[in-house]
Formats: sequence, C-alpha cells, structure tokens
Amino acid sequence: MADARLLPDADFEADWSAVVLPEGMKGRLLSTAVAGFRLRAAVPFPAMPLHGVLLLTGRPGVGKTTVARGLADKVARTVSGRAPWLYVEVDPHALVSSSLGRSQRSVEQLFGTLLAEYAAAGPMIVLFDEVETLFTDRRALSMEANPIDVHRAVDAALVGLDRLARAHRDVLVIATSNFPGAIDPALASRADWTFEVPLPDREARRVIIQHALTAVSDAFRGARRLLAPEVLDKAADLSEGTDGRQLRKAVAAACANRPEAHGDPDEVKAEDLFAVLTERTVRA
Ligand SMILES: Nc1ncnc2c1ncn2[C@@H]1O[C@H](COP(=O)(O)OP(=O)(O)O)[C@@H](O)[C@H]1O
Ligand SMILES: [Mg+2]
Repeated sequence: MADARLLPDADFEADWSAVVLPEGMKGRLLSTAVAGFRLRAAVPFPAMPLHGVLLLTGRPGVGKTTVARGLADKVARTVSGRAPWLYVEVDPHALVSSSLGRSQRSVEQLFGTLLAEYAAAGPMIVLFDEVETLFTDRRALSMEANPIDVHRAVDAALVGLDRLARAHRDVLVIATSNFPGAIDPALASRADWTFEVPLPDREARRVIIQHALTAVSDAFRGARRLLAPEVLDKAADLSEGTDGRQLRKAVAAACANRPEAHGDPDEVKAEDLFAVLTERTVRA
C-alpha cells in the first residue's frame, strides 16, 4: 500500500485545483463518480451491476494520478454525511514484483484482508495507479517468462475486486493506466466509466506554465519577467505535444539553462524557457 489517509484532504484539494483539464471535464468526472457511488450504495447489484470502477487513461504525465487524488477528495466532500472517508492507494508494482508464488498471496491478502477490513469500517476510495501492472492482459503473456504466477495474480485480483464490489457498496475504485491496451479485458469490462485524459491544449499549456512560473516567482522575484503575456503566449505556442509534467519540469530546466547564470532562478530569461521548450518539442 502506497498511501492511506482520511478524506477530505487539503493536499488532494490543492491537486484538484492545480490540474488543468478540458472545459467541463472535472464536472463530468465528479458527477459521474458521485452518481455512481450513490447508485451503488442504494441499488442492489443484480439490478444495477456496477463494480464502482472508474478508469482514467492517457499518456504518462498528463495528470491522471493527480486527477484521481483530487477526485477522491471532491467525492468525499460532495457525498456528505458519511464521513470519515478512507482513501487507500495501492501500488501494483509492489504487489507483482514479489518473488514466484508470492504475488498471488499478496494480492489475496490485499483484497481479502486489508481492503475488506477497511471497507467494513465506512466509505472508501481505492486508487489503483498504473493498473495494467496488476491486471495484465493474460492473452499477451508468453508462457516463458513466469506466466503462471502472473495468471494467478491476475485471477486473484479479479476475484478480489468482484468480492469487494459485491460485499461493500460504498467503495469507489479509481484506476489509472498509461497503456489501456495492456489491461486484461476482464478488468476493462468491469470498469463502469472510462475517461481519457488528453494532452493539454494550447490554453491549458499556457495555464500550466503560468502556474509553475508563478510559484517560482513567489520565491525568486526575478522570474516574474517571464509572466509577461507575450512570453506565456510564445511558450504555449512552442510546447505543442508536451504533457503537464514536462511543462512544469521545463520551467525548472529553464532556470538551469545558461551556465553563466549559475542556476540562480532570479536570473532566468524568457529565452531560456523558449530554448528548453523548443528542444523538448523537437525531441517529442
Ligand atoms: N493537465 C495538467 N495540469 C496541470 N498539471 C499537470 C497536468 N498534467 C500533469 N501535471 C503535473 O505533472 C505532474 C505529473 O502528473 P501525474 O498526475 O503524475 O501524471 P500521470 O499520472 O498521468 O502520469 C504533476 O505534478 C502534475 O501537477
Ligand atoms: Mg500516474
């Protein structure tokens, strides 16, 4: 388990505001998750066979993990009267990297013991980040590279998810994937809602760069010159195809671009940012 905390959570709330998504997408995500949660809590499974699984797909660095955490916080704030909510983040890499035969047992333990106990205590949101690691498409496995163990672990994860969904109606599972094609179809069919998080468009890139620069300028006043509208416009133009993570890192790289500035962010110039963004776009 990577993280466990009570919701609402101020850090997650900040995540939600910092992530820039296409117009209306946050609202749709939230209403989908809240409606799904309410329906599942009140309507029996045979009538409404919802597993409570929301899948976020998209390229690496577009904000899926950040959105998932922020969404968890917003759901907890929106569905009031049920607090406290528990948030649990599972690191699938930690589960499957264990030695032969152990991953099946750790998966069973995760669902059968840990998550079941947590779910019994009250409403819960579980994040399975980079879920293709745990629910690997079994059809794509060759029989040579340790496949029996992976098969068993995937089976155990599916069984565990089904039990959790049936026994506990106030659980919402958020899963993210960089490679939705690598997810086992059995999990994909259990996802009740799928959203693709796109690369930021020009306006979104401008807002993300501005946000990162504003944070830097709060500490290093010299960086404020980069907040000029014409600088932000050009930076947004130059960075087509760049994801949100790279955009934020580009601002850091700009501060280190000219050796003669000795890594002093007060000395950063618009040309440094343009140079870094041009280089990145060419490489991408
Ligand atoms: N659309 C976005 N808007 C604002 N920041 C973003 C966006 N996408 C990514 N970031 C930033 O990049 C970093 C990595 O995002 P993350 O959620 O881990 O991406 P993913 O899970 O899709 O790989 C975070 O610090 C996040 O704030
Ligand atoms: Mg992620």
